[in-house]
Amino acid sequence: MREVPRGPGRLPVVGHGWEMWRDPVQFMTGLARVGKIVRVDIVSRVVYVITDFELLHKVLVENSDAYERGLLFERIRLIFRESLIVADGEQHRDLRRLLQPAFHRTELDSYAHTMKRNADALASSWRPGQNIEARSAMLEVVIANVLECMFSHEPDTGELRFISGLVEDIGAGALVGSVLPEKLASLPLPVNRKFLSAGTQLRKYCQDLIAARRAGGGRRNDLLDILLDASADEHHSDEFLAAQAVTVLFGGIDPSTTTLTWALYELSQRPEMASTLRQEVSGAGELAPRDLGQLDYLNRFLNEVVRVHSPLLQTRRTVTAVDLDGFTFPAGTDIGYSLAAVHRNPDIFAEPDTFDPDRWSDSSSGSKSRCFVPFSMGNQMCIGNNFAWMALQTTLHSVLSKWEFHPIGTGKLPRAMGPIPGIGKLPLEVRPVSG
Ligand code: HEM
Repeated sequence: MREVPRGPGRLPVVGHGWEMWRDPVQFMTGLARVGKIVRVDIVSRVVYVITDFELLHKVLVENSDAYERGLLFERIRLIFRESLIVADGEQHRDLRRLLQPAFHRTELDSYAHTMKRNADALASSWRPGQNIEARSAMLEVVIANVLECMFSHEPDTGELRFISGLVEDIGAGALVGSVLPEKLASLPLPVNRKFLSAGTQLRKYCQDLIAARRAGGGRRNDLLDILLDASADEHHSDEFLAAQAVTVLFGGIDPSTTTLTWALYELSQRPEMASTLRQEVSGAGELAPRDLGQLDYLNRFLNEVVRVHSPLLQTRRTVTAVDLDGFTFPAGTDIGYSLAAVHRNPDIFAEPDTFDPDRWSDSSSGSKSRCFVPFSMGNQMCIGNNFAWMALQTTLHSVLSKWEFHPIGTGKLPRAMGPIPGIGKLPLEVRPVSG
């Protein structure tokens, strides 16, 4: 029998988990009104979701050694094996130290030029009045950015489509499989088969890139060189190297694509904000990519995009008994945290459902900025945060300089599954910037 948390009274319970599928964002963000820690029954699992920032800080920062990754990671471990994104403890510290140089400030400066070139090429490929599908356009730019910056590899169109498909299959299979009852998660259902097959293909793709670099020689000082150096010093297997490469490739693609797609959606819905952004961009003249931080409204707009469209659920599991908010949770308790719930908590952000870049004009003070953690916090926070931010700034800057985005039709947009709930397909009409 499952041990339950002990404490003063009972924790609030929200069940049954199917409600979560109908409107996952409303469901998760609504939990903040129910309690600081809420027991949620998701299909056959019980997860204690933390909605309070200070408690979350205790879990992720102050007492992080008391937790391992938990539910969502059990599933993706089938794909990512022994890699950074699923590792804990000492193994995690070692892997983080190994991969960190690929995300160093000095590397980012050189990546920025690649990102700008890719975004400019995309913006130049569109024609006035063209109907584009924004998610696939953003997906291809994001994949190209990661492959060119981290692997010094320029993918052709076929490769971009191939990797896009694999990433979508892994994302969907990871989420669905994590909440299925254990027996169903291992059955050869289409979602499970596609998930495992996509993982195998992505590992093989990365292994081939590693083998080609080893055979071709020539240093590029990129992620592949970092991995090959480590293999020479510490005799890691090629499977180990490929697992790290897959982690970086996959880890960056889905959240960046979803965020950029939401940014274009918000622009298409808010012509007055798009026009303010465009005025700022054209008024600033030519800017080096690393100076895009100077564009105040662009950064406020992006802050608001990532606040409103934050990761919905991450998991941890207690490895020892843990005290939180007066309750003792036994070892083995599944804990969840929702950045979406923190970022839409009305006690922190007034009128949290309103999209308002101006709420960031005084962001230097108050709890607002302390509680704003779009890339999470603690030693397992996003390793790609600066890379991601630069890609968001650069891509938006390039496409905004040339194009206006107009919605097509009024139909319901299909949902995309992933850590950040997204739009599956976003049709937009592009019109040249007037004046
Ligand atoms: C807007 C874009 C992005 C968002 C919102 C985002 C968000 C996050 C969050 C919230 C986590 C922590 C998950 C947890 O607590 O379990 C995370 C981890 C991670 N992210 Fe990102 N991410 C983004 C882009 C990227 C990029 C571009 C890369 C790589 C190129 C990347 C690679 C990773 C990796 C490897 C981890 C695991 C880190 C570790 O465990 O030490 N992410 N990300």
